[in-house]
Amino acid sequence: MTPTSLTTFAWPEGFIWGSATAAAQVEGAGHEGGKEDSIWDAFARVPGAIAGDENLEIADDHYHRMPADVAIMKRLGLRSYRFSTSWARVRPGDRAANGEGLDFYSRLVDELLEAGILPWLTLYHWDLPQALEEKGGWANRDTAARFVDYATDVYAALGDRVTHWTTFNEPFCSALLGYASGVHAPGRQDGRAAVAAVHHQHLAHGRAVLALRSSGAEHIGITLNLTNAVPRDPSDPVDIDAARRLDSLANRIFLEPMLLGAYPADTLRDLEAFGLSEATGPNGEAALIQAGDLEIIGTPIDFLGVNHYHDDSVSGHPLAASEGGDADSHSGGASRPAGSPWVGSEHLTFPSRGLPRTAMDWEVNPDGLRALLVRLGEQYPTLPPLYITENGAAYDDTVAADGAVHDRERTQYILDHVASVALAIEQGADVRGYFVWSLLDNFEWSYGYGKRFGIVRVDYDTLERTVKDSGLAFAALIAGTGGGG
Ligand code: NOJ
Repeated sequence: MTPTSLTTFAWPEGFIWGSATAAAQVEGAGHEGGKEDSIWDAFARVPGAIAGDENLEIADDHYHRMPADVAIMKRLGLRSYRFSTSWARVRPGDRAANGEGLDFYSRLVDELLEAGILPWLTLYHWDLPQALEEKGGWANRDTAARFVDYATDVYAALGDRVTHWTTFNEPFCSALLGYASGVHAPGRQDGRAAVAAVHHQHLAHGRAVLALRSSGAEHIGITLNLTNAVPRDPSDPVDIDAARRLDSLANRIFLEPMLLGAYPADTLRDLEAFGLSEATGPNGEAALIQAGDLEIIGTPIDFLGVNHYHDDSVSGHPLAASEGGDADSHSGGASRPAGSPWVGSEHLTFPSRGLPRTAMDWEVNPDGLRALLVRLGEQYPTLPPLYITENGAAYDDTVAADGAVHDRERTQYILDHVASVALAIEQGADVRGYFVWSLLDNFEWSYGYGKRFGIVRVDYDTLERTVKDSGLAFAALIAGTGGGG
């Protein structure tokens, strides 16, 4: 599908075109306005944890430049802006609500509404207060209860104006990359803690859905990073099983408790040794999955956010030295250090399929997005409407002599993936929106500021913003579909 046919395509009525960021990645003001450490602030102090030992203290300085950033969104014609609130700003140290922190988000929401842009709020985009990590973090069941307190505070301040609520962004990353592989904050390498983190985030999600719903919220969902696990050799049982295990760990362990109210049987089998069980532990420890948990976790949601960047070619055999491949190509932001405990996946490898790659070394295969969206609808009859809450690409941009950023590859990536969404809709997928990751170049977690995903460039010396060609192309697409804000 060409850009022209993308604009003439019959996008569903009210299709939402937007762009996304996350608090920790753009706000800066790391210790201003009452904000205290999140686990990412603490992790950034560990030498070597972040490329170049960079930190989140200033980031894009969005905290101070928010009105100008909203003006850019308006210029681009965005219909919606997906952002997250920072738990460590709203409830520093997870104590009482911080009025100054909430006021920032209240001003942001007002500014957006004034500009005709729909606020799309995510409660957890990975920045747990460090004070809670010191009590066990997501491995501690009590953190799920604390999350509901935080969600309740945010709803009390913004629920009169924010209509779209997302509980978690990519729990795969915050639980498994944070607690098993340790490449994300809090940097733990403990398989049991990681599995506990998955379950407690599920529980926090379900309880928050119930709490928000009873407060009056009407559009509540979650964002998952989902992949197609493609066996390298579809006739090799070892590769087929590797694909099954990746599908279990990256997709079904999240989708099925939420959509079907149960963990998949094979996931339970694979992860029983890591504590995913309803049984009391060998030394009398409380069961991880307690009575009533799955009913709460399976509380119906109104939409599912899908983050997708690439598929995964997967094998159960070691990679040949000549073969090349990804250490972990499906993580949405991190590599898997060789030999680290990565729950149940010791024998997964990610062989290269020879496709073009982005600066993250992720393969470019737009048709994977179509395949994923269509497959989800076929696999889960109870699937709610879908929104692409993230899709985009990092490339090594340069500023041209004319001062512009001619990011041809990113532009192509975005248009090709939007075309893939259109095809998925034609083939029956119920997709209602598309958010580009990201509005701004920003802090790419353990990669620091070196990987640029923005459709707007940020000069980290001057903090000046420049709309890239991809931003202009996205704006033209929105205008062409008549779908602007
Ligand atoms: C996943 C995350 O939600 C986001 O924070 C990250 O920057 C992008 N995808 C790119 O890795």
